[in-house]
Amino acid sequence: MLLNAINPTPLAMQLKIVKGMRDLYGEEVRVFSYLEEKAREIFSLYGFSEIRTPLLEHTELFAKGVGEETDIVGKEMYLLEDRNGKSLALRPEGTASVVRGLVTNNLLKQSRQLRFFYFGPMFRYERPQKGRYRQFYQIGVECFGVEGPEADLEMFLMLRQYFAAIQLQGVAFQINSIGCQEAACRPAFKTKLIHFLEQQKEELCADCQRRLSNNPLRVLDCKQPGCIALTAQAPQSHQHLCGRCKDHFATLQNLLDQEGVQYELNPKLVRGLDYYSKTVFEVYSANLGAQSAAGGGGRFDGLLELYGSAAAPAVGFALGLDRLALLSEPLAPVNGGAFVIGFESQAVVSLVAKVRQAGILCEYDPFFSSMKSQFKQAGKSGARWALVLGEEEIQTGQVALKDLDQGTQTSVTPEIALEKLQEN
Ligand code: HAM
Repeated sequence: MLLNAINPTPLAMQLKIVKGMRDLYGEEVRVFSYLEEKAREIFSLYGFSEIRTPLLEHTELFAKGVGEETDIVGKEMYLLEDRNGKSLALRPEGTASVVRGLVTNNLLKQSRQLRFFYFGPMFRYERPQKGRYRQFYQIGVECFGVEGPEADLEMFLMLRQYFAAIQLQGVAFQINSIGCQEAACRPAFKTKLIHFLEQQKEELCADCQRRLSNNPLRVLDCKQPGCIALTAQAPQSHQHLCGRCKDHFATLQNLLDQEGVQYELNPKLVRGLDYYSKTVFEVYSANLGAQSAAGGGGRFDGLLELYGSAAAPAVGFALGLDRLALLSEPLAPVNGGAFVIGFESQAVVSLVAKVRQAGILCEYDPFFSSMKSQFKQAGKSGARWALVLGEEEIQTGQVALKDLDQGTQTSVTPEIALEKLQEN
């Protein structure tokens, strides 16, 4: 829509943040960056490199890959028309985009296996609450080309190592297998499940009555107490797998046991996106309240083929960064730098510049408040050193170097002060 076609909005409205969106700043951004940095560090150890895909994709990409009947595509996508009337979507998740990236850039021709991670905002028109936003951030990982359960195992090992690195406690893995498209596997299970659910159709919630015809597996993870009770005796997908999927799942569990990865088998875990096959998993934390999933993923062996590309097996996951940040301990304050204290503006800014040039974090009080206030600010800033330029120091060309940790102070030349700062 052209700007001049929009009715003028009152200023108060223009300045209101869009519902479900938030500004990130201060400590929260520091935590986000820290979590991303650590992910980069750990995921690189497993041979993953970064991919950055656009925020906008053609709507059909998600409709086809994630599935038209899913909540994400059916109810939650932010859609817009470009100036040529093409329907575009703000990406609600990263997997479909990464797969498109592989196809667009012909990457699978270049390598037998590919490993990518990504960070960034995703958009879903959900009902906002703590830990659930309409613009939220994910850290995601996708591994292409490896069919065996070793690749699934790597996801768990990598997550375990990452959680240890960020000192995240109280997270637990739940796993399941939803089989493959072979007639004897998921389709046969689906028929059994539908037969079971049909018998209790009247008692299912309205959503599940609809799901019964277009996405019956999703009835299994309905959160309504009535549906939970009704599906307690429902057939379980992991007990209706074809031979290959059964072997895959059994081997994965053996490998997880061998590597000491703790997990719980949750037969009702089916995930909310249609592209999954075989292994599915989620990462839960009891400390997240209602939004207890900190992450989720699984295999999506059929997705490339669905897009008309040569088939390639794949497995991946995404973590909700907003939720990880909620679970993280506060970071230690930034420390180790210097704070220049003084009243003579030229001398202060010149010394500050020198310290920064030497690669040391340095702050000062641009309002040149009282000495007492400047010392207080220095303490609060977490600086290790105060460099004091009082009247006497200006006259003698010295600087008083105060170690804020030890409380000791010496008078030295600015050069020696810099050397001392660099030593520590
Ligand atoms: P997902 O389960 O839809 O999977 O999302 C992964 C994680 O993103 C969730 O577990 C949650 O922590 C976070 N998340 C989802 N929606 C919101 C929201 N509205 N607000 C805050 N956090 C949210 C996927 O997106 C798949 N692409 C994962 C995957 C990658 N599967 C294979 N590869």
